[in-house]
Amino acid sequence: MSLNIEQLKSEKVRILGISGSPRNGVTDYLSQIALEEASAVPGVETDFLPLHKVKINHCIQCEQCLKLDPGRNYEHFCPPFHDDMDELIPRFLAADGYIIASPVYEMNYTPLLGIFMGRFRPLWRVFKGVHRNKVGGAISVGGTRYGGQETSVQVINSFFLLNEMINVSGTSGGYIGACAWSRDKLPKEFDDPIGVEKVRDLGKRVAEVTRIVKAGRALFPDGRPDLNNLDKNPVKEAPYAP
Ligand SMILES: Cc1cc2nc3c(=O)[nH]c(=O)nc-3n(C[C@H](O)[C@H](O)[C@H](O)COP(=O)(O)O)c2cc1C
Repeated sequence: MSLNIEQLKSEKVRILGISGSPRNGVTDYLSQIALEEASAVPGVETDFLPLHKVKINHCIQCEQCLKLDPGRNYEHFCPPFHDDMDELIPRFLAADGYIIASPVYEMNYTPLLGIFMGRFRPLWRVFKGVHRNKVGGAISVGGTRYGGQETSVQVINSFFLLNEMINVSGTSGGYIGACAWSRDKLPKEFDDPIGVEKVRDLGKRVAEVTRIVKAGRALFPDGRPDLNNLDKNPVKEAPYAP
């Protein structure tokens, strides 16, 4: 196989930032700082999805999505609900790397973020392994200094891991993700330079690792389904299909 280094270096990647806050506050602000830092890495495009702008239902475990046909590209992946997830799923699939941020609510990520993440079961059924070897990093923001930020990034990290993604941290001091302290302020009064530094580090690392992995995948294709050529990429049955 001939190795075209220049082509690999120019491979574009897309990083999707998701804010799990139900309002336009510090989490949106920090998500955009992380994306700004990511976009400074050559070849990186970004997209931002603040979840307070969308309307989505929570999964009711009706099990209907487990009857969808593996490998088929559906317009509606969730049989009972035709809501904003219909547009968000293709947008999510189009990304190579993810930065997911949440305010801390009761020592955990927000119910809104949980509702979003709970809607990915149809993808597991239809495009098994579709997120394998994508990249993800987590950010959390608490009103108190030690209010559950680390717990929250850990559970976001678990979402990446269960989707077979590569989970990256920030740099030293952002060991499992970036944690910030808002003192319950809004962005114009927000003042946590260490938190911002960790958020920037995380945005940069997600972008760097995503580029490295995407270039590596071009050399060593991993069999992930190609959504543009589904006929040529039959997807195996999901293991627990009824
Ligand atoms: C229902 C609720 C629960 C919260 N629980 C916590 C908590 O357990 N720990 C904490 O540090 N902050 C907690 N906070 C404060 C928020 O995490 C904090 O104000 C954060 O900066 C909000 O982010 P936003 O500006 O992006 O909305 C809570 C806020 C709300 C509304």
